[in-house]
Amino acid sequence: MRRRDAWLEHVAFFSELGVDGMSRDPAWSGRGDPGAPEDKEFAGVSATGDGPVREGLDGVRSDLGECTRCKLHTGRANLVFGVGNPDADLMFVGEAPGRDEDQQGEPFVGRAGQLLTKIIASIGLNRSDVYIANVIKCRPPNNRNPEPDEIENCEPFLLRQVDAVRPRVVVALGAFAIRTLLSSGQSISALRGQIFDYRGAKLVPTFHPAFLLRSPDRKRDVWEDMKKVRSLLEG
Ligand code: URA
Repeated sequence: MRRRDAWLEHVAFFSELGVDGMSRDPAWSGRGDPGAPEDKEFAGVSATGDGPVREGLDGVRSDLGECTRCKLHTGRANLVFGVGNPDADLMFVGEAPGRDEDQQGEPFVGRAGQLLTKIIASIGLNRSDVYIANVIKCRPPNNRNPEPDEIENCEPFLLRQVDAVRPRVVVALGAFAIRTLLSSGQSISALRGQIFDYRGAKLVPTFHPAFLLRSPDRKRDVWEDMKKVRSLLEG
C-alpha cells in the first residue's frame, strides 16, 4: 500500500470511530503492502478426502435446535446463533444477545453492533468477511450477566462453532467473553494487550463495543488491538 493510501486509511479509522487526533505510531506509517492473504489451510481434512471430517456450522446449529437447556429459553424471542462467513479467518465473540439481537436473531445489530461493524471496517473487512457469535445464545433478562449454569450449557456450542469455522484469529469482546474463553479470573486490563493461543487460533482480547460507547477514550486501545489482529492475519 502506498504511504498516502495508508495515511488516508488511518484517518478514515479515526473519523469513523470518532477519535480525535492522529497517531504518531511509526509502525503504522512505515508498514508495507500486506499483499494477498494466504489461503486457509484445512488441517484435519486430507487432500485425498479420507482424513477426519470437520463438523460444519449446520450440524452445530441443528444440535442446538430450539434449545431448552437453561432458563434463558423462556424469555427469548429468537435464539441468536451466529452470522457471517462460515470459513472466516477472523471471528469475533461477544457476551450475549441484547434486545435488538433477540428481536432480529442476529448478533451485534444494535448500537454496539454498529460500532463493531466500524471496527471491522477499520482493518478493511466487512461483516460478511468475518464470523460473529456470542458465548450465550439467548438474551439474559434485562441484560444481566450470564449465570454459571447458562455458561455451562451454552459454551460447548461456541467451542464447536470455533472448531467449525477454524479462524486464524479470535477477538474476544469484553471482560465476560475474555474470561470465559480463557477460563481466567483475571481483569480485562491484565489480559488485554497479550495474545493467547486458543483452539488453534490466536486470541486477541479487547474492549466490548458497548463499553466503548460509554468510554470513547478507550477506542485508541481497540485500534492498537485491531492493528495486532491485522498483522496476525497478514502473517
Ligand atoms: N452485546 C453482545 O455481547 N453481543 C451482542 O450480540 C450484542 C451486544
